[in-house]
Amino acid sequence: MVGSIANSLVELGEDNTTPMVPLVDNVGTTCLAITEPEVGKEAVEAKDASIEDVLVKYVEHLKERTQHHLGYPYNLDFDYGSVIAKLSGFSINNLGDPFIESNYGVHSRQFEVAVLDWFAHLWEINKQDYWGYVTSCGTEGNLHGILVGREVFPDGILYASKETHYSVFKAARMYRMECVKVETLVSGEISWEDLQAKLLLNRNKPAIVNANIGTTVKGAVDDLDKVIQILERNGFKDRFYIHCDSALFGLMMPFFNQAPKITFKKPIGSVSVSGHKFIGCPMPCGVVITRSIYEKKLSDFNQVEYLASVDSTIMGSRNGLAPVLLWHGLSRKGYKGLRKAAQKCLRNAIYLKERLRESGISALLNPLSSTVVFERPIDPTFIQQWQLACEGNIAHVVVMPNITITKIDEFIEELLEMREAWFRGGKIAKPCVAENIGRENCLCELHKI
Ligand SMILES: Cc1ncc(COP(=O)(O)O)c(C=O)c1O
Repeated sequence: MVGSIANSLVELGEDNTTPMVPLVDNVGTTCLAITEPEVGKEAVEAKDASIEDVLVKYVEHLKERTQHHLGYPYNLDFDYGSVIAKLSGFSINNLGDPFIESNYGVHSRQFEVAVLDWFAHLWEINKQDYWGYVTSCGTEGNLHGILVGREVFPDGILYASKETHYSVFKAARMYRMECVKVETLVSGEISWEDLQAKLLLNRNKPAIVNANIGTTVKGAVDDLDKVIQILERNGFKDRFYIHCDSALFGLMMPFFNQAPKITFKKPIGSVSVSGHKFIGCPMPCGVVITRSIYEKKLSDFNQVEYLASVDSTIMGSRNGLAPVLLWHGLSRKGYKGLRKAAQKCLRNAIYLKERLRESGISALLNPLSSTVVFERPIDPTFIQQWQLACEGNIAHVVVMPNITITKIDEFIEELLEMREAWFRGGKIAKPCVAENIGRENCLCELHKI
Protein backbone atom coordinates (compact mmCIF):
# COMPACT_ATOMS: atom_id res chain seq x y z
CA MET A 1 0.00 0.00 0.00
CA VAL A 2 1.39 3.39 -1.01
CA GLY A 3 2.48 5.52 1.91
CA SER A 4 1.55 3.02 4.59
CA ILE A 5 4.68 3.30 6.71
CA ALA A 6 5.20 7.05 6.73
CA ASN A 7 1.52 7.80 7.19
CA SER A 8 1.24 5.49 10.10
CA LEU A 9 4.01 7.38 11.86
CA VAL A 10 2.27 10.71 11.77
CA GLU A 11 -0.68 10.81 14.07
CA LEU A 12 -3.17 13.45 13.06
CA GLY A 13 -5.03 15.76 15.42
CA GLU A 14 -8.77 16.30 15.67
CA ASP A 15 -9.00 18.34 12.47
CA ASN A 16 -7.24 15.47 10.70
CA THR A 17 -4.64 17.75 9.14
CA THR A 18 -2.52 18.98 12.02
CA PRO A 19 -0.19 16.24 13.25
CA MET A 20 -0.02 15.86 16.99
CA VAL A 21 3.54 16.26 18.14
CA PRO A 22 4.51 13.80 20.85
CA LEU A 23 5.99 16.17 23.42
CA VAL A 24 8.50 14.59 25.73
CA ASP A 25 9.75 16.38 28.80
CA ASN A 26 13.32 15.23 28.25
CA VAL A 27 15.25 18.07 29.85
CA GLY A 28 13.76 18.03 33.32
CA THR A 29 15.52 14.75 34.03
CA THR A 30 18.85 15.48 32.33
CA CYS A 31 19.45 19.12 33.25
CA LEU A 32 22.43 20.26 35.27
CA ALA A 33 22.18 21.17 38.93
CA ILE A 34 23.34 24.37 40.59
CA THR A 35 24.91 23.58 43.92
CA GLU A 36 25.92 26.01 46.66
CA PRO A 37 29.67 26.78 46.64
CA GLU A 38 31.50 25.40 49.64
CA VAL A 39 33.97 27.37 51.72
CA GLY A 40 37.72 26.76 51.66
CA LYS A 41 40.49 26.86 49.06
CA GLU A 42 40.27 23.19 48.12
CA ALA A 43 36.51 23.23 47.78
CA VAL A 44 36.69 26.33 45.55
CA GLU A 45 39.33 24.69 43.35
CA ALA A 46 37.30 21.49 43.07
CA LYS A 47 34.22 23.49 42.16
CA ASP A 48 36.09 25.46 39.50
CA ALA A 49 37.48 22.22 38.05
CA SER A 50 34.03 20.64 37.89
CA ILE A 51 32.57 23.76 36.25
CA GLU A 52 35.39 23.69 33.69
CA ASP A 53 34.72 20.02 33.04
CA VAL A 54 31.03 20.69 32.39
CA LEU A 55 31.91 23.50 29.97
CA VAL A 56 34.47 21.42 28.07
CA LYS A 57 31.90 18.65 27.57
CA TYR A 58 29.29 21.20 26.56
CA VAL A 59 31.59 22.67 23.89
CA GLU A 60 32.20 19.15 22.52
CA HIS A 61 28.47 18.58 22.40
CA LEU A 62 27.91 21.89 20.58
CA LYS A 63 30.61 21.03 18.04
CA GLU A 64 29.00 17.71 17.27
CA ARG A 65 25.48 19.21 17.02
CA THR A 66 26.80 21.98 14.77
CA GLN A 67 28.28 19.36 12.45
CA HIS A 68 24.94 17.57 12.12
CA HIS A 69 22.54 20.42 11.65
CA LEU A 70 20.43 20.74 8.53
CA GLY A 71 16.85 21.55 9.40
CA TYR A 72 16.73 25.10 10.70
CA PRO A 73 17.68 28.22 8.79
CA TYR A 74 20.71 29.18 10.83
CA ASN A 75 24.04 29.98 9.28
CA LEU A 76 26.39 28.31 11.74
CA ASP A 77 29.48 29.51 9.94
CA PHE A 78 30.82 32.69 11.57
CA ASP A 79 33.68 33.92 13.65
CA TYR A 80 33.19 36.86 15.97
CA GLY A 81 35.70 35.57 18.51
CA SER A 82 37.92 38.64 18.59
CA VAL A 83 34.99 41.08 18.84
CA ILE A 84 33.34 39.14 21.63
CA ALA A 85 36.63 38.87 23.50
CA LYS A 86 36.95 42.69 23.44
CA LEU A 87 33.38 43.28 24.59
CA SER A 88 32.72 40.43 26.97
CA GLY A 89 33.43 42.55 30.04
CA PHE A 90 30.66 45.08 29.38
CA SER A 91 26.92 45.04 29.93
CA ILE A 92 25.89 46.66 26.68
CA ASN A 93 22.22 47.51 26.68
CA ASN A 94 20.33 49.61 24.11
CA LEU A 95 17.17 49.95 26.15
CA GLY A 96 14.78 52.44 24.60
CA ASP A 97 14.74 54.03 21.19
CA PRO A 98 17.77 53.41 18.93
CA PHE A 99 17.82 57.04 17.80
CA ILE A 100 17.40 58.73 21.19
CA GLU A 101 20.22 58.15 23.63
CA SER A 102 19.03 57.38 27.14
CA ASN A 103 20.83 58.11 30.39
CA TYR A 104 22.35 54.61 30.31
CA GLY A 105 25.66 55.17 28.56
CA VAL A 106 26.91 51.60 28.03
CA HIS A 107 25.10 51.14 24.73
CA SER A 108 25.88 50.46 21.06
CA ARG A 109 23.39 52.78 19.32
CA GLN A 110 26.07 54.01 16.91
CA PHE A 111 26.35 50.41 15.61
CA GLU A 112 22.63 49.78 15.76
CA VAL A 113 21.73 52.80 13.64
CA ALA A 114 24.47 51.87 11.14
CA VAL A 115 22.84 48.43 10.79
CA LEU A 116 19.39 49.99 10.42
CA ASP A 117 20.66 52.42 7.77
CA TRP A 118 22.13 49.45 5.89
CA PHE A 119 18.79 47.63 5.85
CA ALA A 120 16.89 50.83 5.01
CA HIS A 121 19.13 51.22 1.98
CA LEU A 122 18.65 47.56 1.03
CA TRP A 123 14.85 47.88 1.21
CA GLU A 124 14.84 51.33 -0.41
CA ILE A 125 13.59 53.79 2.16
CA ASN A 126 15.21 57.15 2.93
CA LYS A 127 16.90 57.74 6.25
CA GLN A 128 14.41 60.39 7.32
CA ASP A 129 11.44 58.21 6.35
CA TYR A 130 12.15 55.07 8.33
CA TRP A 131 12.24 53.94 11.91
CA GLY A 132 13.30 50.54 13.21
CA TYR A 133 15.44 48.68 15.69
CA VAL A 134 17.58 45.61 16.18
CA THR A 135 15.22 43.07 17.69
CA SER A 136 15.88 39.95 19.73
CA CYS A 137 14.69 37.72 16.83
CA GLY A 138 12.49 37.55 13.75
CA THR A 139 9.48 36.88 15.95
CA GLU A 140 9.92 40.21 17.74
CA GLY A 141 10.08 41.92 14.35
CA ASN A 142 6.75 40.30 13.45
CA LEU A 143 5.25 41.27 16.79
CA HIS A 144 6.33 44.84 16.20
CA GLY A 145 5.28 45.05 12.54
CA ILE A 146 1.82 43.70 13.29
CA LEU A 147 1.48 46.00 16.30
CA VAL A 148 2.23 48.98 14.05
CA GLY A 149 -0.41 47.70 11.60
CA ARG A 150 -2.90 47.45 14.42
CA GLU A 151 -2.11 50.98 15.65
CA VAL A 152 -2.56 52.34 12.14
CA PHE A 153 -5.86 50.45 11.70
CA PRO A 154 -7.20 49.63 15.17
CA ASP A 155 -10.24 47.84 13.72
CA GLY A 156 -8.25 46.08 10.99
CA ILE A 157 -8.45 42.34 10.40
CA LEU A 158 -5.20 40.40 10.17
CA TYR A 159 -4.91 38.11 7.13
CA ALA A 160 -2.18 35.49 7.08
CA SER A 161 -1.79 32.35 5.01
CA LYS A 162 -2.06 29.07 6.85
CA GLU A 163 1.63 28.36 6.17
CA THR A 164 2.63 31.55 7.97
CA HIS A 165 5.10 31.26 10.86
CA TYR A 166 3.38 30.75 14.18
CA SER A 167 4.73 34.06 15.53
CA VAL A 168 2.15 35.92 13.43
CA PHE A 169 -0.71 33.98 15.01
CA LYS A 170 0.95 34.55 18.36
CA ALA A 171 0.79 38.31 17.64
CA ALA A 172 -2.91 38.03 16.78
CA ARG A 173 -3.59 36.28 20.09
CA MET A 174 -1.47 38.73 22.10
CA TYR A 175 -3.16 41.76 20.58
CA ARG A 176 -6.59 40.09 20.51
CA MET A 177 -6.90 40.83 16.82
CA GLU A 178 -9.41 39.24 14.52
CA CYS A 179 -7.34 36.95 12.34
CA VAL A 180 -8.33 35.24 9.11
CA LYS A 181 -6.33 32.26 7.85
CA VAL A 182 -5.94 32.13 4.09
CA GLU A 183 -5.46 28.92 2.09
CA THR A 184 -2.18 28.20 0.32
CA LEU A 185 -1.17 26.65 -2.98
CA VAL A 186 0.78 23.41 -2.93
CA SER A 187 3.98 25.49 -3.23
CA GLY A 188 3.17 27.17 0.10
CA GLU A 189 2.39 30.51 -1.53
CA ILE A 190 -0.78 32.33 -0.43
CA SER A 191 -3.88 31.49 -2.49
CA TRP A 192 -4.90 34.67 -4.31
CA GLU A 193 -8.40 33.38 -4.88
CA ASP A 194 -8.92 32.66 -1.22
CA LEU A 195 -7.33 35.95 -0.13
CA GLN A 196 -9.70 37.84 -2.40
CA ALA A 197 -12.74 35.84 -1.27
CA LYS A 198 -11.92 36.42 2.40
CA LEU A 199 -11.25 40.13 1.90
CA LEU A 200 -14.61 40.50 0.20
CA LEU A 201 -16.34 38.93 3.19
CA ASN A 202 -14.92 41.70 5.38
CA ARG A 203 -15.09 44.72 3.11
CA ASN A 204 -16.12 47.06 5.91
CA LYS A 205 -12.89 46.64 7.88
CA PRO A 206 -9.33 47.61 6.90
CA ALA A 207 -6.90 44.81 6.10
CA ILE A 208 -3.59 44.09 7.81
CA VAL A 209 -1.86 41.50 5.64
CA ASN A 210 1.15 39.43 6.57
CA ALA A 211 3.09 38.64 3.39
CA ASN A 212 5.56 35.78 3.59
CA ILE A 213 8.87 36.46 1.96
CA GLY A 214 9.79 32.83 2.39
CA THR A 215 7.49 30.53 4.36
CA THR A 216 9.01 28.54 7.18
CA VAL A 217 8.49 25.04 5.84
CA LYS A 218 8.55 25.35 2.03
CA GLY A 219 10.35 28.66 1.55
CA ALA A 220 7.52 29.97 -0.63
CA VAL A 221 7.46 33.68 -1.45
CA ASP A 222 4.17 35.59 -1.65
CA ASP A 223 4.08 37.98 -4.58
CA LEU A 224 3.85 41.45 -3.04
CA ASP A 225 2.63 43.06 -6.25
CA LYS A 226 -0.24 40.61 -6.44
CA VAL A 227 -1.19 41.18 -2.79
CA ILE A 228 -1.25 44.94 -3.40
CA GLN A 229 -3.23 44.53 -6.62
CA ILE A 230 -5.86 42.38 -4.91
CA LEU A 231 -6.20 44.84 -2.04
CA GLU A 232 -6.51 47.87 -4.30
CA ARG A 233 -8.86 46.20 -6.77
CA ASN A 234 -11.22 45.12 -4.06
CA GLY A 235 -11.83 48.47 -2.42
CA PHE A 236 -9.03 48.49 0.17
CA LYS A 237 -7.00 51.36 -1.35
CA ASP A 238 -5.58 53.43 1.53
CA ARG A 239 -7.19 50.96 3.96
CA PHE A 240 -4.48 48.33 4.19
CA TYR A 241 -1.20 47.70 5.92
CA ILE A 242 1.26 45.05 4.75
CA HIS A 243 3.85 43.51 7.04
CA CYS A 244 6.51 41.47 5.24
CA ASP A 245 7.79 38.55 7.27
CA SER A 246 11.18 38.17 5.62
CA ALA A 247 12.83 36.21 8.43
CA LEU A 248 15.24 34.37 6.16
CA PHE A 249 14.79 35.51 2.57
CA GLY A 250 14.67 39.24 3.33
CA LEU A 251 18.43 39.16 3.23
CA MET A 252 18.88 36.52 0.55
CA MET A 253 16.35 37.54 -2.09
CA PRO A 254 17.87 40.95 -2.83
CA PHE A 255 20.93 39.06 -4.06
CA PHE A 256 19.14 36.73 -6.49
CA ASN A 257 19.01 37.84 -10.09
CA GLN A 258 15.50 38.63 -11.26
CA ALA A 259 13.92 38.16 -7.85
CA PRO A 260 11.03 40.50 -7.06
CA LYS A 261 12.11 43.39 -4.86
CA ILE A 262 11.30 43.93 -1.24
CA THR A 263 11.04 47.71 -1.33
CA PHE A 264 9.36 50.51 0.56
CA LYS A 265 8.70 52.08 -2.84
CA LYS A 266 5.71 49.72 -2.75
CA PRO A 267 2.95 50.51 -0.25
CA ILE A 268 4.20 48.21 2.50
CA GLY A 269 4.26 49.13 6.19
CA SER A 270 7.07 47.07 7.68
CA VAL A 271 9.67 44.39 7.03
CA SER A 272 11.30 42.10 9.56
CA VAL A 273 14.26 39.75 9.24
CA SER A 274 16.21 37.48 11.60
CA GLY A 275 19.85 38.46 12.07
CA HIS A 276 21.13 35.05 13.11
CA LYS A 277 19.79 33.26 10.03
CA PHE A 278 21.55 34.21 6.85
CA ILE A 279 24.24 36.49 8.31
CA GLY A 280 25.01 34.16 11.18
CA CYS A 281 25.35 35.34 14.77
CA PRO A 282 26.07 33.59 18.06
CA MET A 283 22.85 34.92 19.56
CA PRO A 284 19.35 35.25 18.11
CA CYS A 285 18.66 38.75 16.81
CA GLY A 286 16.81 40.52 14.02
CA VAL A 287 15.87 43.80 12.43
CA VAL A 288 12.52 45.49 11.90
CA ILE A 289 12.07 48.53 9.70
CA THR A 290 8.86 50.55 9.43
CA ARG A 291 7.88 54.02 8.24
CA SER A 292 8.63 56.88 10.61
CA ILE A 293 5.12 58.32 10.12
CA TYR A 294 3.70 55.14 11.65
CA GLU A 295 6.21 55.08 14.44
CA LYS A 296 4.85 58.44 15.65
CA LYS A 297 1.63 56.66 16.56
CA LEU A 298 3.49 54.45 19.00
CA SER A 299 6.07 56.90 20.34
CA ASP A 300 3.50 59.49 21.41
CA PHE A 301 2.47 57.07 24.16
CA ASN A 302 5.89 55.79 25.04
CA GLN A 303 8.00 58.64 26.39
CA VAL A 304 9.80 57.36 29.48
CA GLU A 305 11.20 59.95 31.87
CA TYR A 306 13.14 57.30 33.80
CA LEU A 307 15.13 56.51 30.65
CA ALA A 308 15.17 60.02 29.19
CA SER A 309 14.22 58.24 25.98
CA VAL A 310 11.25 56.90 24.10
CA ASP A 311 10.56 53.20 24.08
CA SER A 312 8.28 51.91 21.37
CA THR A 313 10.12 48.59 21.18
CA ILE A 314 8.48 45.37 22.33
CA MET A 315 11.20 44.54 24.86
CA GLY A 316 12.70 46.71 27.58
CA SER A 317 16.40 45.98 27.91
CA ARG A 318 17.84 45.19 24.49
CA ASN A 319 20.93 43.19 23.62
CA GLY A 320 23.67 45.70 22.79
CA LEU A 321 26.18 43.13 21.58
CA ALA A 322 24.01 41.92 18.68
CA PRO A 323 24.13 45.26 16.78
CA VAL A 324 27.93 45.28 17.05
CA LEU A 325 28.11 41.76 15.65
CA LEU A 326 25.66 42.53 12.86
CA TRP A 327 27.64 45.66 12.02
CA HIS A 328 30.82 43.59 12.01
CA GLY A 329 29.31 40.81 9.86
CA LEU A 330 27.76 43.19 7.33
CA SER A 331 30.91 45.34 7.14
CA ARG A 332 33.12 42.35 6.50
CA LYS A 333 30.86 40.53 4.03
CA GLY A 334 29.38 43.53 2.24
CA TYR A 335 26.92 43.20 -0.63
CA LYS A 336 29.50 41.26 -2.62
CA GLY A 337 30.09 38.64 0.07
CA LEU A 338 26.39 38.25 0.81
CA ARG A 339 25.57 37.88 -2.90
CA LYS A 340 28.20 35.19 -3.26
CA ALA A 341 26.93 33.33 -0.19
CA ALA A 342 23.26 33.59 -1.24
CA GLN A 343 24.00 32.26 -4.71
CA LYS A 344 26.05 29.42 -3.28
CA CYS A 345 23.09 28.44 -1.09
CA LEU A 346 20.83 28.33 -4.15
CA ARG A 347 23.32 26.20 -6.11
CA ASN A 348 23.79 23.78 -3.22
CA ALA A 349 20.03 23.55 -2.70
CA ILE A 350 19.59 22.56 -6.35
CA TYR A 351 22.33 19.98 -5.92
CA LEU A 352 20.59 18.53 -2.85
CA LYS A 353 17.21 18.39 -4.58
CA GLU A 354 18.71 16.68 -7.60
CA ARG A 355 20.59 14.14 -5.50
CA LEU A 356 17.38 13.31 -3.62
CA ARG A 357 15.36 12.91 -6.78
CA GLU A 358 17.92 10.83 -8.63
CA SER A 359 17.91 8.58 -5.57
CA GLY A 360 14.15 8.14 -5.92
CA ILE A 361 13.19 10.47 -3.06
CA SER A 362 10.30 12.88 -3.58
CA ALA A 363 11.48 16.48 -3.24
CA LEU A 364 10.39 20.07 -3.87
CA LEU A 365 12.49 23.20 -4.23
CA ASN A 366 10.58 26.43 -4.80
CA PRO A 367 12.08 29.11 -7.05
CA LEU A 368 14.10 31.73 -5.09
CA SER A 369 14.41 29.33 -2.20
CA SER A 370 17.14 27.31 -0.58
CA THR A 371 14.68 25.20 1.39
CA VAL A 372 14.53 21.64 0.07
CA VAL A 373 11.38 19.79 1.11
CA PHE A 374 11.26 16.00 0.94
CA GLU A 375 9.51 12.97 2.35
CA ARG A 376 9.85 12.71 6.10
CA PRO A 377 12.44 10.10 7.12
CA ILE A 378 10.77 7.31 8.98
CA ASP A 379 13.16 6.97 11.87
CA PRO A 380 12.96 9.69 14.58
CA THR A 381 16.56 8.93 15.56
CA PHE A 382 17.72 9.87 12.07
CA ILE A 383 15.63 13.06 12.26
CA GLN A 384 17.26 13.96 15.56
CA GLN A 385 20.71 13.04 14.36
CA TRP A 386 20.46 15.58 11.51
CA GLN A 387 18.15 17.97 13.38
CA LEU A 388 15.64 17.95 10.55
CA ALA A 389 12.53 20.11 10.84
CA CYS A 390 9.40 18.08 10.04
CA GLU A 391 5.75 18.84 9.50
CA GLY A 392 3.30 16.06 8.78
CA ASN A 393 4.71 13.81 6.09
CA ILE A 394 7.46 16.17 5.01
CA ALA A 395 10.83 17.30 6.29
CA HIS A 396 13.13 20.02 5.06
CA VAL A 397 16.75 21.02 4.84
CA VAL A 398 17.47 24.75 4.71
CA VAL A 399 20.67 25.14 2.75
CA MET A 400 22.66 27.83 4.53
CA PRO A 401 26.26 28.92 3.84
CA ASN A 402 27.59 26.23 6.21
CA ILE A 403 25.82 23.42 4.30
CA THR A 404 28.51 22.38 1.88
CA ILE A 405 28.46 19.81 -0.92
CA THR A 406 30.51 17.49 1.31
CA LYS A 407 27.89 17.75 4.06
CA ILE A 408 25.08 17.15 1.58
CA ASP A 409 26.84 14.04 0.24
CA GLU A 410 27.37 12.73 3.77
CA PHE A 411 23.69 13.26 4.56
CA ILE A 412 22.47 11.64 1.34
CA GLU A 413 24.69 8.61 1.80
CA GLU A 414 23.43 8.07 5.32
CA LEU A 415 19.83 8.61 4.26
CA LEU A 416 20.11 6.12 1.41
CA GLU A 417 21.65 3.51 3.64
CA MET A 418 18.88 3.94 6.18
CA ARG A 419 16.17 3.87 3.53
CA GLU A 420 17.38 0.49 2.30
CA ALA A 421 16.52 -0.82 5.75
CA TRP A 422 13.31 1.20 6.21
CA PHE A 423 11.84 0.07 2.89
CA ARG A 424 13.45 -3.39 3.04
CA GLY A 425 15.27 -2.96 -0.23
CA GLY A 426 12.11 -1.90 -2.11
CA LYS A 427 9.72 -4.52 -0.69
CA ILE A 428 7.78 -1.78 1.09
CA ALA A 429 6.35 1.05 -1.00
CA LYS A 430 7.60 4.58 -0.61
CA PRO A 431 5.22 7.13 0.90
CA CYS A 432 3.05 9.34 -1.28
CA VAL A 433 3.60 13.05 -0.62
CA ALA A 434 1.73 14.40 -3.65
CA GLU A 435 -0.68 16.27 -1.42
CA ASN A 436 2.17 18.00 0.38
CA ILE A 437 4.54 18.85 -2.47
CA GLY A 438 2.57 18.25 -5.65
CA ARG A 439 2.16 15.21 -7.90
CA GLU A 440 4.97 16.39 -10.18
CA ASN A 441 7.42 16.22 -7.26
CA CYS A 442 6.20 12.95 -5.80
CA LEU A 443 8.08 9.77 -6.67
CA CYS A 444 5.77 7.22 -5.05
CA GLU A 445 4.67 4.19 -7.10
CA LEU A 446 1.53 5.98 -8.19
CA HIS A 447 3.08 9.28 -9.29
CA LYS A 448 6.55 8.53 -10.56
CA ILE A 449 6.72 8.69 -14.31
C1 LIG B 1 8.98 32.78 8.04
C2 LIG B 1 9.48 32.91 9.44
N1 LIG B 1 9.09 33.95 10.18
C3 LIG B 1 9.52 34.14 11.43
C4 LIG B 1 10.38 33.25 12.02
C5 LIG B 1 10.82 33.47 13.43
O1 LIG B 1 12.13 33.88 13.47
P1 LIG B 1 12.97 33.79 14.82
O2 LIG B 1 13.25 32.34 15.05
O3 LIG B 1 14.17 34.61 14.52
O4 LIG B 1 12.12 34.36 15.90
C6 LIG B 1 10.82 32.14 11.30
C7 LIG B 1 11.73 31.16 11.89
O5 LIG B 1 12.17 30.23 11.33
C8 LIG B 1 10.35 31.97 9.98
O6 LIG B 1 10.72 30.92 9.23
